[in-house]
Amino acid sequence: MKSITITATIELYESIDKLPVDVIKLMNTAIEAREKAYAPYSKFNVGAAILLDNDEVISGSNQENASYPSGLCAERTAIYYAGAKYPKAVIKRIAISATSLNHAVTSPIPPCGACRQAIAEYEVKQNVPIEIYFMGERGEVAKSNSLGDLLPFAFDKSNL
Ligand code: THU
Repeated sequence: MKSITITATIELYESIDKLPVDVIKLMNTAIEAREKAYAPYSKFNVGAAILLDNDEVISGSNQENASYPSGLCAERTAIYYAGAKYPKAVIKRIAISATSLNHAVTSPIPPCGACRQAIAEYEVKQNVPIEIYFMGERGEVAKSNSLGDLLPFAFDKSNL
């Protein structure tokens, strides 16, 4: 038997103000998108903003449904639109912010497993790491330099 050890690095910024200026702008776009969430069931509003290498920014929010599993997270709403609108563009970074109507969200909210799998598809496709910044409504902002740090040992096309 042999074993492998996987390490991942997540950087933590004290608050949004400590981010590089261009990332603050992207995060503010995610915050604006968050306000457009349709989340009457969970009351948990998420916004995502994606910066492409053609300088376009695509944003999205979670869209819920009375048939709960038919809803979609903010990250996938945004990334599928980015892929549909600019199929050749490289995704440089994603900013994510979440808030709740029920309680203060002060710790970083990471993308769910299904969204990590969706982002992984694009990272593998473009063979360029995607930076991911995520936060609640305030407080610390977490950053991973690659989706691979959030989803090690991922299933991808090489497994087919
Ligand atoms: N949600 C997202 O939009 N992104 C995530 O990564 C986690 C969860 C949404 C889905 C649902 O509308 C609500 O948050 C509660 O799970």
